[in-house]
Amino acid sequence: MGIMNRIGTPLSPSATRVMLLGCGELGKEVIIALQRLGCEVIGVDRYADAPGMQVAHRSHVVTMTDGAALRALIEQERPHLVVPEIEAIATAMLVEIEQAKLAEVIPTARAAQLTMNREGIRRLAAEELGLPTSPYQFADSLAELQAAIDDGIGFPCVVKPVMSSSGKGQSLLKTQADVAKAWDYAQAGGRVGAGRVIVEGFIDFDYEITQLTVRAVGASGDVETFFCEPIGHVQVNGDYVESWQPMAMTPAALQKSRDIAGAITGNLGGRGIFGVELFIKGDAVWFSEVSPRPHDTGLVTLATQRLSEFELHARAILGLPVDTSLRRPGASAVIYGGLEEMGIAFEGVAHALQVPESDLRLFGKPESFVKRRMGVAVANGDTTDEARQRAKLAASRVRPVSV
Ligand SMILES: Nc1ncnc2c1ncn2[C@@H]1O[C@H](COP(=O)(O)OP(=O)(O)OP(=O)(O)O)[C@@H](O)[C@H]1O
Ligand SMILES: [Mg+2]
Repeated sequence: MGIMNRIGTPLSPSATRVMLLGCGELGKEVIIALQRLGCEVIGVDRYADAPGMQVAHRSHVVTMTDGAALRALIEQERPHLVVPEIEAIATAMLVEIEQAKLAEVIPTARAAQLTMNREGIRRLAAEELGLPTSPYQFADSLAELQAAIDDGIGFPCVVKPVMSSSGKGQSLLKTQADVAKAWDYAQAGGRVGAGRVIVEGFIDFDYEITQLTVRAVGASGDVETFFCEPIGHVQVNGDYVESWQPMAMTPAALQKSRDIAGAITGNLGGRGIFGVELFIKGDAVWFSEVSPRPHDTGLVTLATQRLSEFELHARAILGLPVDTSLRRPGASAVIYGGLEEMGIAFEGVAHALQVPESDLRLFGKPESFVKRRMGVAVANGDTTDEARQRAKLAASRVRPVSV
């Protein structure tokens, strides 16, 4: 199933109903893409007025880690497709929902389950598929963490809670003096509170990329794998601040990246877009992690590709053809809240948009935090360097202000 090739009328019995689990800025763009293709879209998030809810047909505030609540909502709404936009979901329930054929889970319930936990996806990539990764160990206590470092991981290394994203609870350890602090920080920063950590050897990469990879129905009528141009990005404390496309790579590194991306996404299966995160040094490539959904660094594709990663996701999940071609080099730069309050405003918007070939997305998040991503500037240029300068300039001109 899954090949729709037929789309109904929203809000009528023939509707093609899609439920987004997570309504952040990425979900919002997916919803807009689905709306344009005539789908009926139901947004779900844990707080009211999330960005995607503002553009969905209707929405529900639900704790998505509560499996029973999730199932009750899916039974009530009867979506054809359930599309996770975040990791923190009761994925065991998604497996049940898929097995009961209540709805199709995008890309697969197993993909959502494996990728919400660093252990699941790392063991699959390194131990089952034999993909190159950083050396790693898992630890359930400070003593186990210490032993893993002593037994071979060494310094520098990176400690992360197995369940976390956006760099939360993550630290870089340079010496023995950092170990206990890193353990405590990981315990405080994990999504489900205290628990297991992964300790990874530090990869001294030249640069890192996101290889957006789309599994969509191709000309053959079967699901095929399509690759976007690689996206370069800069991370600060595990959170992306800037991205650009295309990232210049050697042919060998690009080929290895696509081989790795094809292998991991092929194993996860289903249809949709995946963000495969890779570290590159010369011609060497390491798999880091994968999101079975649009990737934040891929916001740049709003400016660069004929179809953004959000439009590609919408097309792929509906069983429609995709086109991953690049139109023009471009870049994105994040706009942070800078303030801790509800209902802020943004000044300097007109000045920002005076930057040549620039555009903005202000996500409409109800509450600002100092380091919350509230918007993004994107820009094109003849080169990615020119585009990066423009995107950063436009972003810097947007000023969050108290009301
Ligand atoms: N083993 C490593 N060696 C070198 N750098 C690393 C390593 N692990 C992580 N990093 C750096 O930290 C960033 C965030 O790591 P990772 O992607 O694992 O965390 P995350 O919390 O899932 O972040 P996000 O949700 O933003 O993708 C990476 O993009 C990379 O810049
Ligand atoms: Mg990451």
